Amino acid sequence: MINQREQWGSKLGFILAAAGSAVGLGNIWKFPYLVGENGGAVFILLYLFGVLVVGIPAVIAEILIGRTARKNPVGSFRSLTRGNPFWVSIGFLGVLAGFVILSYYNVIAGWSLGYIIESLKNVFAPMENPEKAAALFGSLSASARWSVFYSFGFMVLSVIIIMFGVQKGIEKSSKFLMPLLLIFIVILVMRGVTLPGSMKGIKYLIKVDFSAIRPQTVLLALGQAFFSLSLGMGALMTYGSYMSKKDDIAGCAVNIVALDTLVALLAGFMIFPALFALGMQPEQGPALIFNILPVLFNSIPGGYLFRILFFILLSIAALTSTISLLEVITAYVVDEFKISRKIATICFGFIVFLIGIPVALSFGLISDLKIFGLNFFGIMDFLASNILLPLGGLLISIFVGWVWKKDQVYSNLREGLKISEPLLNLWFFLIRFVVPVIILFVFLSSIGIF
Ligand code: TRP
Repeated sequence: MINQREQWGSKLGFILAAAGSAVGLGNIWKFPYLVGENGGAVFILLYLFGVLVVGIPAVIAEILIGRTARKNPVGSFRSLTRGNPFWVSIGFLGVLAGFVILSYYNVIAGWSLGYIIESLKNVFAPMENPEKAAALFGSLSASARWSVFYSFGFMVLSVIIIMFGVQKGIEKSSKFLMPLLLIFIVILVMRGVTLPGSMKGIKYLIKVDFSAIRPQTVLLALGQAFFSLSLGMGALMTYGSYMSKKDDIAGCAVNIVALDTLVALLAGFMIFPALFALGMQPEQGPALIFNILPVLFNSIPGGYLFRILFFILLSIAALTSTISLLEVITAYVVDEFKISRKIATICFGFIVFLIGIPVALSFGLISDLKIFGLNFFGIMDFLASNILLPLGGLLISIFVGWVWKKDQVYSNLREGLKISEPLLNLWFFLIRFVVPVIILFVFLSSIGIF
């Protein structure tokens, strides 16, 4: 038993854990402001297209690699290619992306934790306009003490969960946190849509205005679908490596993607009806959640409580993602260097926290330090979202579609599979031709090539 790899206790546990990885700040912070900046319903429509055509096939591909090889991303590529150095380095790129993303993601996650406390202290109550909240956000995020303290706190939470391992840590916490997240978001949606004047916001989310489409909108929607599903860096590969060969990969993938999409849509319905009801414009950008919302709650009956609920929701969403990022790093270190899980988690959690300190400081002390016009946070986000993830996703789809032997792909995927043969062929067609081409377009445009 000693060297046996842990497995999920149940299929539901795996689905909730993987959906937890996918559902994160991307759904609740980024998706709504992208919708707001890009024409509402039309952006949502393009996003759904991306999720269906790129998302589901790519999720299946990543889980398949992990489940077949039963290893971390580096070990998986090593065992499937008999140690081909190119592919092994692609696995390594994934682990590196995990480092990069976790280091800045954890800082924002820390803010959401800090905002639970600020909300409890009711500091937003006397604010009558978003400028005041923006000023407070500016001073909190610029305060090294405040933001480093909460990012440390958040990392401690992730480390504790990951130390307990796959079943007792990740699965158990996801089975508790994900239903809680769904309950909280439904409560907040109901609060938003029952406000007088919310109908305008609902219309904004469902009435498609095709004139709002720009080429950029398409690329942003596809890129967001990709980021939101935690694709391109081996997170799903790692979670897939703990999956039983008896379970249906395609069925799980559809459930994971559906949950992630549902939460993104609910986040839209949580925010825009309230925003419109209170007479605000949708194009608020990244400041939406920390600058606008806290004040918005002042005009809402029961606002004090709903505000606290909102930041707990945001923290839960972030936590189920940070643990999956930390698990990618942990699985790599445990598999490859035979270090115990506890020691690996503590050491690497701490290292990533240290890398995150300049990210936290880039909103204050070192905000003038800029490369290509980006602060340290911007650089990390650009490196991960625009380079490492698309590149990883592109190569993963090329690997499954072109490099791995087709009969191997089919026979491994067939284990436990419950979908029909034509659907299986459709999946293979998408992963071979459609997914890599679309990712390539998004990638080239995001680095400014066209
Ligand atoms: N999907 C996460 C979100 O929506 C962000 C993310 C991207 C991520 N890649 C990841 C999370 C890899 C975990 C692992 O917020």
